[in-house]
Amino acid sequence: MTTQRALSGIKPTGDPHLGNYLGMIKPALQLQKKHEAFYFIADYHALTTLHNPQKLREHTYELVATFAALGMDIENHAFFKQSDIPEVTELTWIISCITSKGLLERAHAYKDAIAKQQEVNHGLFSYPVLMAADILIYDSNYVPVGKDQKQHLEMTRDIAIRFNHIFGETFVIPEPLIEDDVATIPGLDGQKMSKSYNNTIPLFTTEKKQRKLVMKIVTDSKTVEEPKDPETCNVFALFSLFATPEQQKALAERYRTGNMGYGEAKQTCFDVINEELKQSREVYFEIRQDFQKLDGILEAGRDKARPVAREVLNRVRDHVGL
Ligand code: ADP
Ligand code: TRP
Repeated sequence: MTTQRALSGIKPTGDPHLGNYLGMIKPALQLQKKHEAFYFIADYHALTTLHNPQKLREHTYELVATFAALGMDIENHAFFKQSDIPEVTELTWIISCITSKGLLERAHAYKDAIAKQQEVNHGLFSYPVLMAADILIYDSNYVPVGKDQKQHLEMTRDIAIRFNHIFGETFVIPEPLIEDDVATIPGLDGQKMSKSYNNTIPLFTTEKKQRKLVMKIVTDSKTVEEPKDPETCNVFALFSLFATPEQQKALAERYRTGNMGYGEAKQTCFDVINEELKQSREVYFEIRQDFQKLDGILEAGRDKARPVAREVLNRVRDHVGL
């Protein structure tokens, strides 16, 4: 393990799905072997859209259980709640004073909300500033995220560079880590898998429910006999992210030969997903009920992360003259 730090966050706004798993959770967990890992539940960010305390608490516990079941190593790394580190809100204020309004007006999430004529609260508008504070307050070197977070990372770098320019070397400039081949996972309808599109396959649900959802993935209407194109098929796209190269080759051949219906392809797809997830699914359902354990994980994470945040915030206060 190097002394470099990887940091990432995920919002407790719904059941984690296969897009979150492949785009962020799995690559982030793999990084634990290489770097120190600080991963957190972005509950302050969730408040920009979720105004239901019971749901917020449930989704928070779901995420702790999810990361623990998938092998988050809490002995050597930290898993915590964003709101357990209030220093991050102070840093948000300080850096917001050198962030131009124009930069925030270019954010995709803000522009989308305006285009859809949704109400925009101030939290949503300043979302990227809080996210920059999340990253900069731990001197993070690497930030593993899905492709949709790329712009937020660019803004974080802009803010850090500008701050360093005005106040002298203060922040580490972070690098995004975005996996190219899993950049955007398609959902049931072929669009990006997202809670907002209602097209997700949950990461941890019963085997039966997960199979049923895989069976619902939209395909074209070719008959069983017709040859099919694996390159343009949503089922094959999802399958490839869980299958070995040999398994991919074998199924691609069956597509091209014909005499295989999409039902069978979907079953094969579910089998590889299940193979990868079945063991962690059992662990997940077990620890999801163990609140003492879940709280313990968050407390240990907080105790590791908070001193780092304190130190960086002291440096910032000193550099700006507070
Ligand atoms: P959602 O779009 O479902 O609300 P989030 O915004 O909470 O998901 O995303 C949490 C993490 O999962 C982010 O790092 C994001 O980039 C990643 N992610 C979400 N959906 C996908 C997807 N379809 N493909 C790849 N990564 C994704
Ligand atoms: N905005 C991220 C998302 O929607 C969540 C997040 C908040 C985050 N703070 C972060 C991700 C810091 C990486 C680093 O998924």
